[in-house]
Amino acid sequence: MIRRVLTFPDPMLKQPAVPVRELGAEALAVAADLLDTMAAHDRCVGLAAPQIGESLRMIAVDVSSHPRAQASHGRLLIVNPVITARAGAEMGREGCLSLPDITANVRRAKRIAFRGMFPDGTLFESLTLGFEARAVQHEIDHLDGILLLDRAASPKEIFARVPR
Ligand code: NI
Repeated sequence: MIRRVLTFPDPMLKQPAVPVRELGAEALAVAADLLDTMAAHDRCVGLAAPQIGESLRMIAVDVSSHPRAQASHGRLLIVNPVITARAGAEMGREGCLSLPDITANVRRAKRIAFRGMFPDGTLFESLTLGFEARAVQHEIDHLDGILLLDRAASPKEIFARVPR
């Protein structure tokens, strides 16, 4: 089911999300809705559960059709994701459905190791880099109540989005 995406300053977006304790029907429904809602937004490469109003540590990422992606795991839904290692740093432009009027330049690790669980309970652990690493870092930030505005390198690195 496609859900409404919350926008800043909704308080849910600033609240740390709760770990998923059980992959029961409710958590699986949130996972499915996250994927549906991500797919419903053109050029959306990631979404986190708090953005659809669920305080749960769950993210969806899919950079496979994005021209900037050098690495891609395809469509990912990760429960309780954590970054276990970071290397390098690079600046890049990011947007967010919860901040529809801006983009910002954000410094992120170039390469990451990350792990979590798939909705079927399988453990997941992998490495990624570049744009996909950026997307994973952005979505995990959402689980900690951190938005693009908090990460922008400086106020000068926040830009009004030109209507398309
Ligand atoms: Ni976002």
